[in-house]
Amino acid sequence: MHPVRFKDLDVVVQAAPGACLLDVCLDHDIEMEAACGGFAACNTCRVRVEQDGLSAKEDIEGPFLDRPDQRLGCQAFIQGPCVLSLDPGET
Ligand code: FES
Repeated sequence: MHPVRFKDLDVVVQAAPGACLLDVCLDHDIEMEAACGGFAACNTCRVRVEQDGLSAKEDIEGPFLDRPDQRLGCQAFIQGPCVLSLDPGET
């Protein structure tokens, strides 16, 4: 298990290696919007990454991100300890 810290909520949860970040949030009652249902077709699941223990960024995410430190929660998989913010940050 890897610690995933949601900095803006001051919450740390433990996530299994390979778990989808969106699923980690759903499993721990952390409110992550997923308007498209997790199909990389919106940007409501964006997070800002401060410590990157996530899988490599997918090309499909590009059009939905407006900062290099953002990821789509539905396309990011836990690979190590992470520090994230649900607030995707100013553009
Ligand atoms: Fe729509 Fe992730 S839930 S892109």
